[in-house]
Amino acid sequence: MSNVIISPSILSADFANLERDIKRAELAGADWLHIDVMDGHFVPNITIGVPVVASIKKISHLPLDVHLMIENPQKFVEPFVKAGADILTFHYEAVEQNKISSLIKYIKSFGIKAGMSIKPKTAVEEVSEHLADLDMLLIMTVEPGFGGQKFMEDCAGKIPAAREKFPKLIIQVDGGINAKTGKLCTDLGANSLVAGSYIYNSPNITRAVNSLRA
Ligand code: DX5
Ligand code: ZN
Repeated sequence: MSNVIISPSILSADFANLERDIKRAELAGADWLHIDVMDGHFVPNITIGVPVVASIKKISHLPLDVHLMIENPQKFVEPFVKAGADILTFHYEAVEQNKISSLIKYIKSFGIKAGMSIKPKTAVEEVSEHLADLDMLLIMTVEPGFGGQKFMEDCAGKIPAAREKFPKLIIQVDGGINAKTGKLCTDLGANSLVAGSYIYNSPNITRAVNSLRA
């Protein structure tokens, strides 16, 4: 699939040198910047919060792709929008069924893109009623919580079911993405790749970003 959106995950950046590492991603030709927000409840890890996103907004022109791995995401939509999120993705599993449609509308009401993410055990069929309303579906290819995990090929198998019915939906994959697993996903219909350790552990970030596009 052409025009793949590459979104480096700064979870694998050096947080003491975050500006430097964000500039490296920009120079390498990244399209978006993926920011993993974890609360220690929805996932067993804590990472970045609103003030850090606001600081990143001041130093980067890249669209901020904010991945909320938190409980009660609806409470944090406005703070993250004000901090500068351009794409805001919540987890399907973190929201009551009857509140999902209104949450998607609420995110879009700020004029930004709304994304919804599904964990490895959640099927695309289970969320199909929401796909027409979303700008992006994020299909996790690892259990959310940590960078550097092994790609779960079964999860990539969910991509075609969404792509067949929704040709314009952004389908993003996140977790264990490298040149090989990224190609597998784009061949199946994904058009946005998140990569943390593959990009930031690479001796040549530009080459790593280009290899994801190839
Ligand atoms: C995991 C995060 C990912 C993480 C990916 O829960 O959502 O964005 O940074 O890291 P890698 O690319 O190393 O698997
Ligand atoms: Zn992520």
